[in-house]
Amino acid sequence: MTFDRRVKIAPSILSADFADFGREIRAVEDQGADWIHVDVMDGHFVPNLTFGPPAVKAFRKHVTTVMDVHLMIAPVDPYIEAFAEAGADILTAHIEAGPHPHRTLQAIRAAGMKAGVALNPGTPAGAVEHLLDLADMVCVMTVNPGFGGQKFLDMTGKVRRLRQMIGDRPVHIEVDGGVDPRTAPLVVAAGADVLVAGSAVFKGGSVGDPSPYGDNIRAIRAAAEAVSRAA
Ligand code: DX5
Ligand code: ZN
Repeated sequence: MTFDRRVKIAPSILSADFADFGREIRAVEDQGADWIHVDVMDGHFVPNLTFGPPAVKAFRKHVTTVMDVHLMIAPVDPYIEAFAEAGADILTAHIEAGPHPHRTLQAIRAAGMKAGVALNPGTPAGAVEHLLDLADMVCVMTVNPGFGGQKFLDMTGKVRRLRQMIGDRPVHIEVDGGVDPRTAPLVVAAGADVLVAGSAVFKGGSVGDPSPYGDNIRAIRAAAEAVSRAA
């Protein structure tokens, strides 16, 4: 994985057909996805359950881009090795998931992955100030994690502050939740480069008729790039 700040669209397979993940992943990649975002939930850190390392390992066989695994679990550390073996390229842990995020980020890198740290809407940017040299990505949640299809919460001030704090470091800013062609330009103008989108990518399409996925991805990208060119 090389580092760049161009806009990347990362469809969340939380909005895919759960009986057909392989074909869904291939469909969104064919339709222009840059990364594939995988939401892991434990029914404890967030009030929903999704999939664990064996499922993520099965997804890996279909991902040809970047597998971006977002852990909404606590604790994180006992599972880092299993997600490395499952083939995650980036493993993101929430800063709220435990008392030692510094140790968690070190362990993710030591296991051979890029390390991400996610912030819930109520967590200020300053919470990651002393973690930026250990992180490859900061994920700003623009919904309370747990479900797709929620309303976008405006965290542009937090994104802007993080962008300043990051400076020249090769650290991505990802925004996750409620991203669509209306909200994407707001977060890209503030400094985000990775846009996770679930419902806004998968709406209107299916594996049998995937062209709406492409239309949706292009609409988000065009809206985001219009503002990044203007900036
Ligand atoms: C929410 C997840 C998101 C979710 C985004 O907890 O982390 O990745 O899939 O879904 P949308 O884009 O529908 O808000
Ligand atoms: Zn996510």
